[in-house]
Amino acid sequence: MAILYGIGVGPGDPELVTIKAARRIADSQVVVAPSAEEGGESIALETAREYIKEGTEVVIKHFPMGKENRVSKIKEAYDFIEEKLREGKNVSFLTIGDPYIYSTYIHLLKHMEERGFEVETIAGIPSFCAAASIVDRTLVVGNNPLLILPAARVQDIKDEKYVVIMKVYKQEELVVNTLEEKGFDYVYISRAGREGQVILDKKEDIIQARDYMSLILASRE
Ligand SMILES: C[S@@+](CC[C@H](N)C(=O)[O-])C[C@H]1O[C@@H](n2cnc3c(N)ncnc32)[C@H](O)[C@@H]1O
Repeated sequence: MAILYGIGVGPGDPELVTIKAARRIADSQVVVAPSAEEGGESIALETAREYIKEGTEVVIKHFPMGKENRVSKIKEAYDFIEEKLREGKNVSFLTIGDPYIYSTYIHLLKHMEERGFEVETIAGIPSFCAAASIVDRTLVVGNNPLLILPAARVQDIKDEKYVVIMKVYKQEELVVNTLEEKGFDYVYISRAGREGQVILDKKEDIIQARDYMSLILASRE
C-alpha cells in the first residue's frame, strides 16, 4: 500500500533537511508542498528541491489562510493526495520546520488516517531551534520551562524566563512593548537559515520589520 509521508523540512536551509526526510522524499512518486498565496512559491518545496528525484510529480497546493475559499481549497488538496495514494504512489507532503508545530499537516494527517491510509511523519528541525543556533542564544536551561506561544497571546506570559514567540508578523509592536514591560531581553529573526535572513535586537527596527517568516527569542533573569 502507498504511504503518505508528512515531512518536516526544517527552517528553509537545505542542509538542515534530515537524512531520513531526504530519503523519504526520494522514495516518493509525488511531492505536494503548500503555499500561502495562489500561484505563490512554496518555501518548503524550495528547501527540499535538491532531494526530489527526476520524474517525480511535484505539485504546489494553495492553502489560503482565513479566506472564504479555504474549505474548498483544502478539500481539493486532500482529494488530490487521496487520488495519488489510491494509484499506489507514495506522496510526500512537505511542511516547514517540524510537522507537529503550528502546521496544517496536523489536519491532513487526521483526515488521511480516518480514510484508512498509512501515514508516516518525519520530524523536522523547528524554526526556533535553528534560530537559537544562528544567534547563539540559549533556548532554555536548568529546570526552567520554555514557553512557546503565538504573538497574539504575548500578554499571557506570566513568570516564565524563557520564551519563543512565533507568528510575529503584524504584531511586532505589541510583542516588543510587552516584552520590555516584562523585563525581557530579546532578539528578532526572520527567514532563519534562508536567503534574506535578518537578525534585529533594537525595538525601532523590529517594529518596522514586516516578514511573515519571523519569530522572537526572549529571556530574562
Ligand atoms: C505556520 S508556523 C510553522 C512552524 C513550523 N512548523 C516550525 O516547526 O517552525 C509559521 C511560523 O513559523 C515561524 N518560522 C518558520 N520558519 C521560519 C524561519 N525560517 N525563520 C523565522 N521564523 C520562521 C514564524 O514564526 C512563522 O510565523
